[in-house]
Amino acid sequence: MTPVLQGAKIAGVGMCVPEKILHNTDLEKLVETSDEWIFSRTGIRERRIARPDEATSDFAVGAGREALASAGVAPEDVELVIVATCTGDTGTIPATATWAQERLGLVNAAAYDLSAACAGFCYAVDSAHQYLASGRYKNVLVIGAETMTRTVDWTDRNTCILFGDGAGAVLLERCPYGEGILASVTGADGRGASKLCIPGGGSRLPLTLETLAAKKQFLYMEGKEVYRFAVEMMGEAAVQVVEKAGLTTEQIDLFVPHQANIRIIAAAAKRMSLPPEKVFVNVDRYGNTSAASIPIALYEAHKSGRLKPGDKVVTVGFGAGLTWGANVLEWSL
Ligand code: UT7
Repeated sequence: MTPVLQGAKIAGVGMCVPEKILHNTDLEKLVETSDEWIFSRTGIRERRIARPDEATSDFAVGAGREALASAGVAPEDVELVIVATCTGDTGTIPATATWAQERLGLVNAAAYDLSAACAGFCYAVDSAHQYLASGRYKNVLVIGAETMTRTVDWTDRNTCILFGDGAGAVLLERCPYGEGILASVTGADGRGASKLCIPGGGSRLPLTLETLAAKKQFLYMEGKEVYRFAVEMMGEAAVQVVEKAGLTTEQIDLFVPHQANIRIIAAAAKRMSLPPEKVFVNVDRYGNTSAASIPIALYEAHKSGRLKPGDKVVTVGFGAGLTWGANVLEWSL
């Protein structure tokens, strides 16, 4: 029998960020920088930062709980939870998704992490869509959650000003084919793997007194190179995914890009010929929260009334790997 492909739609959204706010002016006291430099180069004014006793799964659980409540789905009915993260609670094992599974009471759900850095949420939505389309699962909780501020060297002004912490979540459910997620694009160019990485703490360079002294546990980034890649790939992936969905950019109601840098967002919007009112921006308040940035932005766009049922939404993420991913969604809430 030929399997009948089904669709996948967003049935609930949630977000959770730490309470503590770190302003640009606070960073002026840590490194040689200024509010003016940070805002003009990145669009960031402030970011949320985890307390010492908070970790990634704390935000994942907060966002996941709200997504389930808004979808009206009981924890025991969830069949799979995917946590897109590159800053799990523990270095390697177990998956942060398993901590979240336990604390959310997802007793019947499989759980794993997906590692595609800032493109992780778009990858995870695409993966979840495949499970739902094939009939393997009836619902999947997709969470993007990060504690990026644990990875930065607070004496390195090139990186410490950029990142923030938090989580966003969506509950995806099966729906009729052709509704919900209309298209996805994912890609990677491993030639850029060393341009944005945490060199230490893995099997290549385990943490030792020497690697710690050499600061290999911190995020390393060739900012200009990543910037060039992002400007090119974000616009390119957005155009590709819109075409794949059989739409034109004029038919897009809202562009919800990865919130890394306002200049990168503006370049992608220009490539798509989108006016500013069709571009969602909250990088000013959260900085770059990696895999959490798109679900947090979707949540805020929904809650602020920028999205209504039937709207066509484009999401695009890019990040370490170098990776990229994009989805076209027909908004269903
Ligand atoms: O999710 C993916 C994660 N990564 C990204 O999205 C990052 C992509 N890259 C970027 O967003 C930008 O490259 C940055 C915001 C990181 C940097 O902006 P830029 O316009 O590319 O600046 P730059 O690296 O060319 O630096 C210009 C100058 C340099 O000084 P000199 O060499 O010209 O004297 C830097 O040392 O600005 C200096 N600089 C700073 N000055 C004040 C770098 N960081 C700072 C800072 N405050 N925080």
